[in-house]
Amino acid sequence: MCEEDVFRKAPMGFYVHIPFCNRLCFSCPYIKHQTDKSVTQRYVDALKKEMSNYAARPYVQEHQLTVGYIGGGTPTALSTDQLVDLLTHMKAVFDMKPGLEISTESTPLDISEQKASALLAHGVNRISLGVQTFIDQELEDLGRAGNAAMIIDAIKMLQRIGVPRINIDLMHGLNGQTMESWHQSLQTAVDLGVSSVSFYTYMEFAQISTKRRKLPPVPPREMVDEMFIYAAEFLTRNGYEGYFGDCFALPGQRPAYGSVTWTEEMPIIPMGPTATGHLKDYWYFNEPSIELYIDAINEGRLPIAMGKQITADEALRRAVMLGIKSSRLDRKRFVELHGVDFAQLFPAEIADLEAKGLVRLTDEAMEVVGPKGWYYMDNISKAFYSQEYRRYPQHLGANISPFIIKAA
Ligand SMILES: C[S@@+](CC[C@H](N)C(=O)[O-])C[C@H]1O[C@@H](n2cnc3c(N)ncnc32)[C@H](O)[C@@H]1O
Ligand code: SF4
Repeated sequence: MCEEDVFRKAPMGFYVHIPFCNRLCFSCPYIKHQTDKSVTQRYVDALKKEMSNYAARPYVQEHQLTVGYIGGGTPTALSTDQLVDLLTHMKAVFDMKPGLEISTESTPLDISEQKASALLAHGVNRISLGVQTFIDQELEDLGRAGNAAMIIDAIKMLQRIGVPRINIDLMHGLNGQTMESWHQSLQTAVDLGVSSVSFYTYMEFAQISTKRRKLPPVPPREMVDEMFIYAAEFLTRNGYEGYFGDCFALPGQRPAYGSVTWTEEMPIIPMGPTATGHLKDYWYFNEPSIELYIDAINEGRLPIAMGKQITADEALRRAVMLGIKSSRLDRKRFVELHGVDFAQLFPAEIADLEAKGLVRLTDEAMEVVGPKGWYYMDNISKAFYSQEYRRYPQHLGANISPFIIKAA
């Protein structure tokens, strides 16, 4: 060990939530609000105060931010000036590792060349676009603005100005989607050479709207499952590697957020309403209401709505689950971090998953076996839940009605 190692600060991640969208999609399950200029500036000011509040804490000062994610909503619903202001403030108050990975989400239409260049100049080096599909009719049925040509132009613009990593979200199980149209969307992603693709199984929250708008039905559940397997095999054949179950990246393009934060049990500072994170052995999430969030900040408080201290047993289970969700759990590294071999802690759970062909245990690691294991990633990780946290199985397919808790 060299002197540098002794004095090196421990790594830490951050998550910043921007709960605004310029156009609300009727099918979206996330907490988001129509962009309102009378709120956004007060919001940005509150976010900066929350950043300063964390940055003043000794625990945070013992760490260096090494990875971060700005999600939404649509972060780029903020103006270029507001985004630059936030990034500049972060750099001023936190110790940030030079060149750290900072990802930002956007829709393809909310990212102009000027905004993307400003983000790039202020440290954002990964942009994730919610593409959903490259089929015009599917975009229209989903209520998304724009068309495939505009989306392709946005991706090419980001590539031209030199954004190092471009992720796109694609959805399967959409109204009227077929295996042929799904193939076409995947082929377009490969032809464009995006760095990574994340899959979302479409959850039809707005069946009433579907009926009223006379949309074609969503594909049957078996086809939705098949679409995932097809996509996993297609992208693998085209040089992409699976990670997190539902994400595929070109070699060397795997995002650090998630890969590193999960496997290394890195603390994450959550900032903004609904943001979740964990510091020390506490897991918590922030007040969801924007106004209550702003009030809490202006009163000098952290805007925490709910949290829980994680017991030593839960911490081990959590580490195994997060390792699984990043596809591979290294046994030696796990012992270094947690002082125990997970394979000896959970022999029955692992044997059961191996028998189902979902994981593979070797002397080095436990690996999720794809593509089946990638698809069932959430269910696999749930095998390690303690009794207290066991609830519903992973939702599969387009019908989520069995999982909706009805109001009493
Ligand atoms: C926060 S949004 C991504 C950024 C941006 N707001 C956008 O929509 O382009 C995250 C992703 O959630 C997914 N999503 C939205 N509605 C969904 C639904 N009803 N079911 C499953 N996934 C959904 C989409 O793939 C979307 O890109
Ligand atoms: S733009 Fe994205 S976050 Fe906003 S409503 Fe649409 S899917 Fe949801």
